[in-house]
Amino acid sequence: MRPKVLVTRKIFDEALNLLGKHFDVESNQRDLPVIPSQLVKRLQGKLGAVTLLSCVFDDKVLAVCPELKIISNIAVGFNNIDVKACTRRGVMVTNTPGVLDDTTADFTWCLLLATARRVVEGDKFFRTGKWKGWGLMQFLGHDVHRKTLGVVGFGRIGKGVARRAKGFDMRVIYTDVQRVDEATEREYGVMYVDKRTLLRESDFVSLHVPLFPETTHYMSHAEFTLMKKTAILINASRGPVVDEKALVKALKEGKIAGAGLDVYEKEPKCERALIGMKNVILAPHIASASVETRAKMAMMAAQNCIAALSGQRPPNLLNQEVLGR
Ligand code: GLV
Repeated sequence: MRPKVLVTRKIFDEALNLLGKHFDVESNQRDLPVIPSQLVKRLQGKLGAVTLLSCVFDDKVLAVCPELKIISNIAVGFNNIDVKACTRRGVMVTNTPGVLDDTTADFTWCLLLATARRVVEGDKFFRTGKWKGWGLMQFLGHDVHRKTLGVVGFGRIGKGVARRAKGFDMRVIYTDVQRVDEATEREYGVMYVDKRTLLRESDFVSLHVPLFPETTHYMSHAEFTLMKKTAILINASRGPVVDEKALVKALKEGKIAGAGLDVYEKEPKCERALIGMKNVILAPHIASASVETRAKMAMMAAQNCIAALSGQRPPNLLNQEVLGR
């Protein structure tokens, strides 16, 4: 009998067909989030799950799915999965690193430019028939070129964002738990600073850290107070990196000028007040959403699942301890 695998949301046919060559696949092609009780029901008898960020695998789910051997997440982040619990229970967890870095960096820039130049607001103004012709004082935004960009988290995506800033003649400063070597700093044209300096000096603060207990609410009241009143916050990392209530307060009090957000503390919801703010752009977690990249992510996840259930070490195994190093 072929192993059974659950695909928890709609994915590309190419990836589904690849899985179908190896497994009996049950898939939720309706593409609606699966509620935990349904997830548990569907997981019965399955050895693998190919899943998305909107599906939570916590210890409660794992406890009632003892046959599960692999959770293959179609994302680089994996905060929807309790990896420690998986390790304890011998369940492999994989992700899709690398393939989405440039696409996410592109989108970060999309948010940055759109927020600085009020593109979404302008679009709405036009569509609702309010535009009566060119006006000198209309939709004044903030220049991007030659300003200071602060990159928080200088990993693959942070580096991609910094590299793109060269085209805008920007000064780029970064902060991270570790400073990169001087040759890398030269290559990217960046300067290492501490968090405080970054917040005080940046015109744009862009977040690119993974979600860990140490990065939860990395941006809160104290941080917004340090920022320039004209500064814009961009978050295409993880929602809880920003204290959303503190962000609302900072925007209301004019401590910062605006925000471009792709991620939220409690997706798919956000702090209600953000919805009414014109100086905020709210994207529905789409930073990696290009056809090319999402297709690669799905194929990579399928390959991780296939490797895991054929007795091989999956290329992107996050908890190596399960197999022994
Ligand atoms: C998207 O947010 C991802 O983690 O891949």
